[in-house]
Amino acid sequence: PAPGWSISADVVVVGSGVAGLTAALRCEAAGLRTVVVTKARLDDGSTRWAQGGIAAALGEGDSPEQHLDDTLVAGAGLCDAEAVRILATEGPDAVRRLIETGAHFDESAEGELALTREGGHHRRRIAHAGGDATGAEISRALVEAVRARGLRTIENALVLDLLTDAEGRSAGVSLHVMGEGQHDGVGAVHAPAVVLATGGMGQVFSATTNPSVSTGDGVALALRAGAEVSDLEFVQFHPTVLFLGPDAEGQQPLVSEAVRGEGAHLVDADGVRFMLGRHELAELAPRDIVAKAIMRRMQEQGAEHMFLDARHFGAQMWERRFPTILAACRAHGIDPVHEPIPVAPAAHYASGGVRTDSRGRTTVPGLYACGEVACTGVHGANRLASNSLLEGLVYAERIAHDIAVSLRHDGPHARVPVPEPQPEKPAHPLLAPEDRFAIQRIMTGGAGVLRSAESLARAAERLQRLHSEARDALDENGKTAEPGVDTWETTNLLCVARVLVAAALQREETRGCHWREDHADRDDAGWARHLVVRLNPDRT
Ligand code: SIN
Repeated sequence: PAPGWSISADVVVVGSGVAGLTAALRCEAAGLRTVVVTKARLDDGSTRWAQGGIAAALGEGDSPEQHLDDTLVAGAGLCDAEAVRILATEGPDAVRRLIETGAHFDESAEGELALTREGGHHRRRIAHAGGDATGAEISRALVEAVRARGLRTIENALVLDLLTDAEGRSAGVSLHVMGEGQHDGVGAVHAPAVVLATGGMGQVFSATTNPSVSTGDGVALALRAGAEVSDLEFVQFHPTVLFLGPDAEGQQPLVSEAVRGEGAHLVDADGVRFMLGRHELAELAPRDIVAKAIMRRMQEQGAEHMFLDARHFGAQMWERRFPTILAACRAHGIDPVHEPIPVAPAAHYASGGVRTDSRGRTTVPGLYACGEVACTGVHGANRLASNSLLEGLVYAERIAHDIAVSLRHDGPHARVPVPEPQPEKPAHPLLAPEDRFAIQRIMTGGAGVLRSAESLARAAERLQRLHSEARDALDENGKTAEPGVDTWETTNLLCVARVLVAAALQREETRGCHWREDHADRDDAGWARHLVVRLNPDRT
């Protein structure tokens, strides 16, 4: 659609979680004219839902080297060691700056940061807030800081496509905005630097811990813009999501790893602790190992879920340390003080995304990515628990620094003429909103926790059929679904789902959170490498 309004800035940040707002605040502090655009309200993304916390070597006896080691082990051979070194060494100061920005973390009786453990960490290094409401506190602090600094923000703004200049440099984004006064309808923010911080794509599956806004918009935009995307097959399934029935759909309540970090036990249908003897860290093994063990035990017992038993915490500890989880369980009729919690894995985090270098630069000049939408190389084949908030923070700061340096170096950008999309001939076939459920069912059945060549090929074929039907309608009579947020989100979901399935089909091994039933072992000789995808921008 052709933009009906436009504004100009030095930087446009797309997304308002920890990564987006940190990037925006640091850009503004560097004197850059910064605009934040976000699909719903400023605090509607995934950050607000993060429970366990943010990992950093802040505790006595801990060190960035040990954090680096744990991250590399969890990443199952595919982390970029330099990206992880940056994360682990810059992490502690980035957390301190977040505290200076206004976030309050829980403290011990001695006034030190209270640190907990989670899967894959050999140390207590997870800072948390409000017990189990870490993301909500970070989001509150950052939103308040953005408001206090008077940053320009546009809410309810779904990003459509990257705008580029004649040299292929990014030149801003087109947006569909609803109900925001002067910026209503389709418009554009022109800016030489574009920061994607749009979060994840959990909604590509039927059951996920992600909020409804996590529809892969940033990855889809980057693919359409011809940027490289990597590691999409590595979707992390969180081991302990409250089980609400086999047909539960949409966002599901998380039961944080920190509950296991504080001593909860995973037990099977017979009450047996099945993680003992499977891994030296038992319930605190890396997330992929715990998720697989749960799935295996469920298969062996013909059970729909396992249990997390933390009755021994007692009412007081539950209320003080895990108030959010306690309330969510009780809202669903389960009282963890008196009974074990039914849990099963659900889609949680995209370890892959838009490929960046250590400064957050993508392969399209002027386009940056940070947070879950990015693939910086820190997560490899399986993200270590609580590294995601930290990654958003550290790499957002690096991006702000890089933009400030390069814009100063390049001088003010002339406003370049941007080719406007033709409204009567949409470049991409739009999908009807109801196709979203078909995509989610196809993905859950074919590309979920357990995958095989057969299940993936079936999923690929069904996704292709959805795409072809929309394409044919467009080619034959120029018809496409009515443009709107639902249609664009569904179109984005299909775009990322197709690439994810193609990558998962190609990777004929089991590694990290990618589990192939027909290739049960890790294959370092053949597959110690990344799958990088770059679409021809003219292809859909
Ligand atoms: C959790 O609290 O278990 C989630 C932490 C994470 O995903 O890093």
